[in-house]
Amino acid sequence: MIALRTERLILAPLGADDRDDFVAYRRDPDVARWQSWTPEYSATDADALLGGQPTRFPPPAGEWLQIGVRDATSGALLGDVAVHTLADQPDTYEVGVTVAAEHQRRGVAGEALGAVVAELFDDHGAHRVIAMSDQRNAAVARLLTGLGFRHEGRAVEADWFKGEWTTLDTWAILARER
Ligand SMILES: CC(C)(COP(=O)(O)OP(=O)(O)OC[C@H]1O[C@@H](n2cnc3c(N)ncnc32)[C@H](O)[C@@H]1OP(=O)(O)O)[C@@H](O)C(=O)NCCC(=O)NCCS
Repeated sequence: MIALRTERLILAPLGADDRDDFVAYRRDPDVARWQSWTPEYSATDADALLGGQPTRFPPPAGEWLQIGVRDATSGALLGDVAVHTLADQPDTYEVGVTVAAEHQRRGVAGEALGAVVAELFDDHGAHRVIAMSDQRNAAVARLLTGLGFRHEGRAVEADWFKGEWTTLDTWAILARER
């Protein structure tokens, strides 16, 4: 299973003990706005997700694994990186990232996501790693660009999401591009 240490962070799968901190940042409307869940995200929702986590990294085809991002000094949960193993292509992964509002803009997402992407390419033979984002999400566009993701495509008003048509950007890195 994945266990990474970066300069400031420790990354390891989220577990049942993380539930309350996980629920707290998922309920933040400014965080939920860009993600699949809503500010009504509950402890029951979190129990179901955390209790059903895959037990290996990368996760089995078609599944997601939520990796907790912790402050290496305090142990506080700052956010998570999610990894999805695509079912329809070999060695292809989708990633997502969330950082609690009070810990944003300190380079946490860049450090954490960068470490997970490197792990996928260097230790697990990834061919391609992708990320999807809402066109209006400036923070994630900047984050992904900084990590070397290529802006690969834009599907205009393609996704009926939270009551409106949204435009989706696709980002990718190939192993040979690193
Ligand atoms: C996107 C998100 C993960 C970024 O986390 P973070 O820890 O603040 O990011 P970092 O501090 O590593 O910053 C990465 C880059 O994004 C920029 N950035 C961060 N927040 C930004 C914002 N609100 N607006 C514009 N740029 C922003 C930083 O300046 C930095 O750019 P630089 O490297 O050129 O200086 C965080 O804002 C978040 O969790 N948002 C809600 C959930 C979400 O949108 N997730 C992504 C969906 S896949």
